[in-house]
Amino acid sequence: MSSPKRILRLRVNGHLKEVLARDASTLLDVLRDSFGLSGTKRGCDLGTCGCCAVQVDGEPLLSCLTLAAEVEGKEIRTIEGLSGTERFAPLQECWANAGASQCGFCSPGFLMTADALLRENAQPTREEIQEALAGNLCRCTGYVKIIQAVQDCAKISAKEGIRE
Ligand code: FES
Ligand code: FES
Repeated sequence: MSSPKRILRLRVNGHLKEVLARDASTLLDVLRDSFGLSGTKRGCDLGTCGCCAVQVDGEPLLSCLTLAAEVEGKEIRTIEGLSGTERFAPLQECWANAGASQCGFCSPGFLMTADALLRENAQPTREEIQEALAGNLCRCTGYVKIIQAVQDCAKISAKEGIRE
């Protein structure tokens, strides 16, 4: 038997949105299927690949493992909410310049996680970057370019002082 539905009020990318969702609906279900925010990817749907990472109150969170009802009243940010912002531009540029994205399917999850790391720790060591990104899997690469992109962004941001 499917779980009952109720109206949830979620704050996504700065906008308050209402959705009729089942108690068992995950945040990933609601973001992609109800709000059309398809930048957040569905990979394993089991909490093992990191493709579905978003930020909730600034912390990276796997949306496939999070019930939508759990994040009512919290600030949810997806890749659509970061794109085009001043804060995000250097990371996006470094990602492209380093060639960190091959097929790109994993990139939104990596970027959300890397952005959260850089806001908490503006000058992470290589080990700290590796640790932060340990839950994000990419089947295309040896991660060298991804780590390089985060390091490059930290350097640029330190010089230009443009991150929060
Ligand atoms: S889809 Fe959420 S961790 Fe893989
Ligand atoms: S770039 Fe292809 S899975 Fe990461």
